[in-house]
Amino acid sequence: MSEDSVLQVEALRVGFETAGGFLRAVDGVSFEIRKGEVLGMVGESGCGKTVTALSLLRLLPHPPAVVEGGRALFHGRDLLTMPLQELRQIRGGKIGMIFQEPMTALSPLHRIGDQLVEAARLHRSMSHDEAWALGLDWLKRVGLPDPVQRMTDWPHQLSGGMRQRVMLAMTLLPEPELVIADEPTTALDVTIQAQIFELLLNVRGGDTAVLLITHDMGVVWDVCDRVHVMYAARLAEKGSRDTVFNRPAHPYTRGLLAAMPRLHQTAERLPDIPGQLPSLAHPPPGCRFAPRCPLVQDVCRVQAPAMRELAPGHDVACWMAEGDGKKLENHV
Ligand SMILES: Nc1ncnc2c1ncn2[C@@H]1O[C@H](COP(=O)(O)OP(=O)(O)OP(=O)(O)O)[C@@H](O)[C@H]1O
Ligand SMILES: [Mg+2]
Repeated sequence: MSEDSVLQVEALRVGFETAGGFLRAVDGVSFEIRKGEVLGMVGESGCGKTVTALSLLRLLPHPPAVVEGGRALFHGRDLLTMPLQELRQIRGGKIGMIFQEPMTALSPLHRIGDQLVEAARLHRSMSHDEAWALGLDWLKRVGLPDPVQRMTDWPHQLSGGMRQRVMLAMTLLPEPELVIADEPTTALDVTIQAQIFELLLNVRGGDTAVLLITHDMGVVWDVCDRVHVMYAARLAEKGSRDTVFNRPAHPYTRGLLAAMPRLHQTAERLPDIPGQLPSLAHPPPGCRFAPRCPLVQDVCRVQAPAMRELAPGHDVACWMAEGDGKKLENHV
């Protein structure tokens, strides 16, 4: 654990009771988020990114969700077991969230200004007037047109994009130490959401860390300091952005990068990784990527590789990876 760690997640395991049996959506995931950094979490649809994020703040419906184990230490306090009252103070305060359905974050029954005032005073002690001024200031910072007018508007008077800006203002106003931003995959407003992410990164305070959940490697390259690659409920690789992009050690990471559309290249993007994500209710034994892996060996099919350090700050869960990438090169 580094000194500037904001959140330390250890061996997180989360599952769902489903009609088809127990489905483990997060299986022993460990990572930390450091002060001021942008940490990208990537992986194919259904690999467990959103469940990881929601479980950290205990926002999953229970049942069917069950947090089976692990810890999420925030200033030494475990978010997963602390009293709910304490967690409510942290949620929307020290830890902000921008989730896939942000519209639910605003109450249709209260004017914008009143909601901003409430958010400010919930987490910081200040007078109504100070909170109003702070709210207005944040509407300006997020680039909402006519901010003075908007303070007295109702949410339904704003466009979807405007509401997202208000939501961003509300998230950043308590000066969170961490913002968890989960990219939509199916929402219609993907473009607007991309603008909101950009805005988040530009207007957040320098000390605010961001956990950016996406499956867009292009976004990761543009804005992230470090990258964690998730595959079938487990982490496959962790490293700095430059290391992961320049010396990817896991064959899955290599596949993701190969499938990325290249800049300045007119050719069609390369084919995606053949095959599909295994069922999380009935995962294959051994390495979960083995059925799709071009380097698969016997050991991969029977024993899951543990996450191990290849180089300082670069970890991989793959039997075939070596620090200098040689073993991979010899096979690919
Ligand atoms: N409420 C639920 N009940 C049962 N299974 C669920 C529930 N929510 C999520 N899951 C399952 O958990 C697994 C992980 O889902 P998750 O939403 O975390 O994926 P994701 O990586 O965020 O994907 P995407 O990129 O599409 O957002 C999936 O198999 C999903 O079907
Ligand atoms: Mg998701």
